[in-house]
Amino acid sequence: PSPDHITLLGTAYPRDRWTNVSPSIQAKLGRGLLTVPNHPLRIIKLRIEQYLNETRPGTDPLLAPRAFAIVDSLSPVVTVQQNFDSLLVPADHVSRQPRDTYYVNQNQVLRCHTSAHQVQTLREGHDAVLIAGDVFRRDEIDASHYPAFHQMEGIRLFSHDTLAKYNPEIAGSPIFEQAGSPTYGETAAKQKSHTALAAAVVERDLKATLDGLARHLFGSEIQVRWVDAYFPFTHPSWEMEVLFHGKWLEVLGCGVVQQQILSNAGVENKLGWAFGLGLERLAMVLFGIPDIRLFWSTDSRFVSQFSEAAALNPGANAVKFQEFSRFLSRSKDTTFWLPSSGFEDNDFFELVRSIASDLVENVQMIDSFVHPKTGRTSKCFRVTYRSYERDLSHEEVNLLHNEIRNRLAADLKVELR
Ligand code: PHE
Repeated sequence: PSPDHITLLGTAYPRDRWTNVSPSIQAKLGRGLLTVPNHPLRIIKLRIEQYLNETRPGTDPLLAPRAFAIVDSLSPVVTVQQNFDSLLVPADHVSRQPRDTYYVNQNQVLRCHTSAHQVQTLREGHDAVLIAGDVFRRDEIDASHYPAFHQMEGIRLFSHDTLAKYNPEIAGSPIFEQAGSPTYGETAAKQKSHTALAAAVVERDLKATLDGLARHLFGSEIQVRWVDAYFPFTHPSWEMEVLFHGKWLEVLGCGVVQQQILSNAGVENKLGWAFGLGLERLAMVLFGIPDIRLFWSTDSRFVSQFSEAAALNPGANAVKFQEFSRFLSRSKDTTFWLPSSGFEDNDFFELVRSIASDLVENVQMIDSFVHPKTGRTSKCFRVTYRSYERDLSHEEVNLLHNEIRNRLAADLKVELR
């Protein structure tokens, strides 16, 4: 393979100064966890499909069975246009920074959310679609953050006729406001070109659908609340939270799709809603899985604990994961002066992952201060190593840690202390 190209899923892409996809991320591409039989992420995906396409008790009597198309084999390599521009993400938005996003090169990224495929799937003519796949974000290291994870996106569009079936008042009135009308204009509850009534009907269907989904996944007793949110691609927008073991837990983001996006997809005569949820989050809570690295484990003691046939029985209770023996953890601190050229914590996390891979469990900043005379910043990070397969020896951890310190100095230009 030529050094000026990076090969992802069998395709060679030109490298440039934006390229920051690391070998450890490269190795995650193509694992296909959502296709592994009985994998807990696959089970959650199938439960969501089951709810939207078969169950939906009473929330949506008008939608035909199996109305949601399942789109789950799109490549995670997408254009910057798909991942950001097509969703109206501003040119200077923080999420675009290479600090947070994996760039293949200047024009292509590893998708950071399944929303990247909204426009293309709508353009294909779907009125109801579920998009699932792996997504990638440069992030911190702990039990619930991993740079590769999985999302599922749901989108539903409504024509004037469909909306009128939900609310007969709509039949004789328009669903769009014309520019110049006194009620044209954005409010907290609607977009500028939507009538208040049409927007309210879409909102009600969205919330009823997701409320039903929460019950399907967590049981009929689950309590749900809506928190106002902001996404560039929806308005109004919400986060859904569920009360789980006494704590409010954020489960998904959703909202009424920006009309501009529907216009760009060639479906400007419809209104729609969309939601996006993280599958790991749900699986960790529902099955009691304590560490996000376990999803990538090839230890048969993991997947063998789950059964998709049992989980898809209506009314099934999620079996709880039985943690297999926890092996020894070893922590090591590293302290250094930051270079004047700048330093991103995410670059450090990436470096740790590239060397220690899944043997790193947690990286925590435990101290940071500015020297009163020189003005230089010092940071101290604690790296915790633990394998899910065996005890790590002192020597092995020392080797890893020294390698990290050497590369810190060589690549990130810090001054070790
Ligand atoms: N893409 C958003 C995220 O990853 C979630 C979302 C999807 C929000 C669709 C609104 C509509 O956080």
